[in-house]
Amino acid sequence: MAIERTLSIVKPDAVEGHHVGDIIKILEARQFRIVAARLIQLTKREAQGFYQVHRSKPFFESLTEFMSSGPALVMVLEGDNAIARLREVMGATDPAKAAPGTIRNLFATGIEHNAIHGSDAPETAAYEIGYFFSGVELT
Ligand code: CDP
Ligand code: MG
Repeated sequence: MAIERTLSIVKPDAVEGHHVGDIIKILEARQFRIVAARLIQLTKREAQGFYQVHRSKPFFESLTEFMSSGPALVMVLEGDNAIARLREVMGATDPAKAAPGTIRNLFATGIEHNAIHGSDAPETAAYEIGYFFSGVELT
């Protein structure tokens, strides 16, 4: 298995709900290594840039409002097959469909307020890591 890096965000709902520690505990138990992390409140514009792939979706306005509504923890995670494995640990976008024990199953409160982001492919991981972190910030 190849060592990969992926971008994760503990979304504002999960920070507000005091789930940061529980989520990091799950990620570390699953052998993800945190190689960079920063707590930030995105501007609306930054949230729009991050989710530009979804700009024509009906949920875009609400999603970018939500993502800029409070502090979020952006992290770069490293590990074997990290991109696909993070998606597994996160669970389905809709928490009603997320497998038991996944982060979204445990902490999401709806399809939008779903606790965590994870890059979906190597190209998006590279773009998203670069959106938040410079090379010297990656330990
Ligand atoms: O985050 P994920 O890759 O699982 O889902 P996505 O399809 O890339 O959508 C990005 C985010 O938009 C989701 O995580 C939700 O927060 C939100 N979303 C939503 O509010 N309503 C939907 N029908 C789909 C996604
Ligand atoms: Mg996605």
